[in-house]
Amino acid sequence: MNVLVTGGTGYIGSHTTVELINRGYTPILVDNLSNSREEVIQAIEKITGKGVTFFNIDLCNRSELKKFFEVYKIEATIHFAAFKAVGESVDFPLKYYRNNIQSLVNLLDLYNEFGLDNFVFSSSCSVYGQNDEQPVSESTPLGKAESPYAFTKQIGEKILSDSIRAYKFKGCSLRYFNPAGSHESALIGEYPLQAPTNLVPVITQTAIGKRKKMQVFGSDYNTPDGTCVRDYIHVMDIASAHVDAITRMAGGKVNQDMEIFNLGTGQGNTVLEVIKTFEKVTGQKLSYEMSPRRPGDVEKVYADTGLANSLLGWKALRNLEDIVKTAWDWEKKLSEANKSIA
Ligand code: NAD
Ligand code: WQD
Repeated sequence: MNVLVTGGTGYIGSHTTVELINRGYTPILVDNLSNSREEVIQAIEKITGKGVTFFNIDLCNRSELKKFFEVYKIEATIHFAAFKAVGESVDFPLKYYRNNIQSLVNLLDLYNEFGLDNFVFSSSCSVYGQNDEQPVSESTPLGKAESPYAFTKQIGEKILSDSIRAYKFKGCSLRYFNPAGSHESALIGEYPLQAPTNLVPVITQTAIGKRKKMQVFGSDYNTPDGTCVRDYIHVMDIASAHVDAITRMAGGKVNQDMEIFNLGTGQGNTVLEVIKTFEKVTGQKLSYEMSPRRPGDVEKVYADTGLANSLLGWKALRNLEDIVKTAWDWEKKLSEANKSIA
């Protein structure tokens, strides 16, 4: 079964490609390399022992994308491609609206034109905004989007559900909580062109010496140790959920317009717990300081994963220790190879 993986050379796309191949699917990768590198293809081939088909196409370019669909018979799509830096989206909102919305509209338009089926959309826990109800479930009302990025995910879900209803194909939206960690081989990992701002890569970059010191944003939240609570989920668990979603749709087991699933562990951890776990697992002492709150941060968010557990038959198999260990292995591999993440 041919599965189009947009954003396939990116962080989550590359890990999902490995999982698709391991479970007998044929991924076809499309990416414009705006935040990833082509060398990830060789790494995926090394892990899986299989050749990978890749096209450098900008999804905002409808005519290029159309040529692709004229040649390849696509039986499912996982749409990862998007810009994802929350802070940048505040400074450059139109860059985000143009890229994230236009690429989705082009894809869905061509889905309709070519009569295609089975579509998975990368959404995010950021659609919940500031929410007092924890854990959040798929039926929790969405909060106000805290950034243009988060709004592209809210609008993206609406565009997809309207399209599914009108054009009669199957689709689902997967809301990731905080993906982190790397493939166990340390051959692929988070390797963006832009400097990462997420907690786990900031920790590993600090420990390896790429950053002198890291900051813990906020110590006066209403949480066990005053720092924010998040649901950190291993990227390979996220990857396997995508294959489960494709398998469910292809098996015809979808009986509503657009299904939505939270992808988290169901457990919240504070920033200091992540740091302490990293220090314990790796033996590295981390240089950090307590700093003021980061604007836009929510106090706590973690997932009710009941729906994904029951309908997708999926649950996270890896824990926070696995996350920090694999992230650290990857950081060391990058450093040995004398590469630097942006
Ligand atoms: P990433 O930046 O590593 O991967 C995205 C890929 O999409 C990149 O390789 C980039 O080059 C490509 N891309 C962007 N715009 C494109 C375009 N117009 N045409 C073709 N390719 C394009 O990001 P990621 O962490 O792998 O995220 C994948 C998806 O998951 C995104 O939609 C993101 O919003 C979503 N998501 C990520 C997280 C996270 O913390 N990583 C959390 C929730 C949701
Ligand atoms: C986690 C915690 C920070 C860096 C973002 C997006 C969300 C989703 C996941 C895409 C927070 C703290 C961080 C640092 C710190 N992505 N932190 N020092 O903000 O929960 O979510 O990524 O969809 O939409 O908003 O993730 O990893 O940036 O932060 O103290 O140097 O770590 O304040 O409490 P976040 P994060």
